[in-house]
Amino acid sequence: MFEERFMDAGYQAEDAAEQSLRPKTLRDYIGQNAVKDSLSIYIQAALSRRDALDHILLYGPPGLGKTTLANIVASEMGSNIRITSGPAIERPGDLLSIITNLNQGDVLFIDEIHRLSRTAEEVLYSAMEDFAVDIVTGKGPMANSIHMAVPRFTLVGATTRAGQLSAPLRDRFGILFRLEMYTPQELAKIVGRSASILGVQADDAGILEIARRSRGTPRIANRMLKRVRDYAQVRGGGTITLDVAREAIAMQGVDELGLDKTDRTMLTTMMDKFGGGPVGLDTLAATTGEDAITIEDVYEPYLMQLGFLMRTPRGRICTPAAWQHMGRTQPGAAADGQVRMEL
Ligand SMILES: Nc1ncnc2c1ncn2[C@@H]1O[C@H](COP(=O)(O)OP(=O)(O)O)[C@@H](O)[C@H]1O
Ligand SMILES: [Mg+2]
Repeated sequence: MFEERFMDAGYQAEDAAEQSLRPKTLRDYIGQNAVKDSLSIYIQAALSRRDALDHILLYGPPGLGKTTLANIVASEMGSNIRITSGPAIERPGDLLSIITNLNQGDVLFIDEIHRLSRTAEEVLYSAMEDFAVDIVTGKGPMANSIHMAVPRFTLVGATTRAGQLSAPLRDRFGILFRLEMYTPQELAKIVGRSASILGVQADDAGILEIARRSRGTPRIANRMLKRVRDYAQVRGGGTITLDVAREAIAMQGVDELGLDKTDRTMLTTMMDKFGGGPVGLDTLAATTGEDAITIEDVYEPYLMQLGFLMRTPRGRICTPAAWQHMGRTQPGAAADGQVRMEL
């Protein structure tokens, strides 16, 4: 069995209660202001034309609110949502039957759309562009293809890796949104909202501390809130204060910046074994025992956001800030701390 990492932004069994914390309207969806502003205009425009919304591609690291936003799009449009995912669609026929059963204006949400098979993807091309599908009946010389119209629907695709989408598929999305990591202030609003939904007592400093250490990710912030709540109940008299939050989070092996053991191992491996880089992704994966895709999707976005890691054509490089945070002296650093970095 795979060990579930506390700071992994991917969905875990303990997030099952997530549904109750999910905002249901655009107004309750915190942060991502540029996305919300554009989206509310597109939604109003489509509603006033009585038309389906353009197809939307949502991309960004796990746990930032893609699934939540897809559901909000459907409810703001007053339409039904049909949810599936790239890996769940085994044959093109699976997708055909979903699409032919949609109603006018429905939202079809395909999570992890980059994992759709090429043949299933081809079904989407004409469905997205012409609102039609080709159904082949019979085999060999008796084969017959029926061109069938489908209702105008909105495809919402979500992916952690927009780069892996084929160009023909990507080009058929009229709207592309990249979700950004949240600021501690935005996360504090999310944690505050979740605390009141869960009936947890927490003061502002305690909430901000959880927010600061949740690596810009609402899913992690909500998960951290529950762990800190447990700690507060047993050791802290029930209320989440700054001290309670600090102790509870430290117990999870998470440092002041939200880095956990794996993040720190990645950085120290780069520093101790490769002089801080450049190190290729595959080499880093092999020496840390982590999966290359997980490193790219889960660890690196936050380390780059912190300015600890840079991607260069020759590989990953630790920045002086990373050396400092890990309490190590960068080779070649002058006594004044100035570093000449060769890129
Ligand atoms: N903008 C937001 N405002 C409030 N809560 C959010 C927001 N984005 C995400 N969340 C919370 O984080 C959890 C994970 O979001 P989700 O949409 O499942 O992420 P993704 O699909 O990108 O992995 C949700 O259950 C929700 O409670
Ligand atoms: Mg999701």
